[in-house]
Amino acid sequence: MKLSGKKALVTGAAGGIGSAIIARLQAEGATVAAADLDLTGTAADHALTGDLTNAGYSDALPARAAEAMGGLDILINNAGIMRRGPVTASTDEDFSISVAVNVEAPFRLCRAAIPIMAEAGGGAIVNTASCWGVHAGPDHALYCMTKAAVASLTQCMGRDHAHQGIRVNAVCPNEVDTPMLRTGFELRGFDPDTAIADLGKTVPIGHVASPEEIADVVAFLASEESRYICGALIEVNGGKPVG
Ligand SMILES: NC(=O)c1ccc[n+]([C@@H]2O[C@H](COP(=O)([O-])OP(=O)(O)OC[C@H]3O[C@@H](n4cnc5c(N)ncnc54)[C@H](O)[C@@H]3O)[C@@H](O)[C@H]2O)c1
Repeated sequence: MKLSGKKALVTGAAGGIGSAIIARLQAEGATVAAADLDLTGTAADHALTGDLTNAGYSDALPARAAEAMGGLDILINNAGIMRRGPVTASTDEDFSISVAVNVEAPFRLCRAAIPIMAEAGGGAIVNTASCWGVHAGPDHALYCMTKAAVASLTQCMGRDHAHQGIRVNAVCPNEVDTPMLRTGFELRGFDPDTAIADLGKTVPIGHVASPEEIADVVAFLASEESRYICGALIEVNGGKPVG
């Protein structure tokens, strides 16, 4: 087990990718503290329920997780929201909530977690960015902007904190079969199962990613197997470019 004895904090823990990350980290021997708006039914070792747009909650979360678990080796900034549309169809609220959840919260959690990890001799941070933050995607301007911001933060923090034994990397999925993707189809009046099967035909590897296919890469980036990888943006896209 490659994460035996490690203590991990995972945000967005109740979501599609977050649930798979928790299962994968636990299967590798980690203890997991979960954070989300509602953690009912989430299979984590510790539940730290709250709203990441609350600055006080986000600032305190790494210390609370470390206190609950007796340390903090791994932080997975996975929570995210997707507001759709071009800039001309985006509201002030779309802008502020997108930045608050997708950028400000990871900033606050990293800022609070890094000193805890540094004092213990190191750690690993994995941010869930997106291929849509590495390449411009159509009709999701604010989402792409926030994911580009977290990708840039990842690259900068990866350089700034490697000397402390802290590796900061990001997993960048393209499309993943989770509520985030399915609600988008529902909003546009499509049957999600049919739409996801059709979408899979556009992916060279033949299907839309499962949450587990993303969680496996997150576990790799959190583990010693990736010990020389710092500040990397790992695209996990089944060969499909953003388009
Ligand atoms: N599904 C995809 O196609 C896809 C592709 C690329 C990147 N991503 C990214 O992967 C991550 C996980 O997404 P997912 O697909 O599992 O979506 P999801 O909607 O299933 O999960 C997101 C989770 O974040 C939580 N969250 C949202 N706002 C929050 C807040 N204010 N405070 C606390 N928690 C909050 C939600 O409650 C939810 O459980 C996100 O960062 C997303 O942008 C998803």
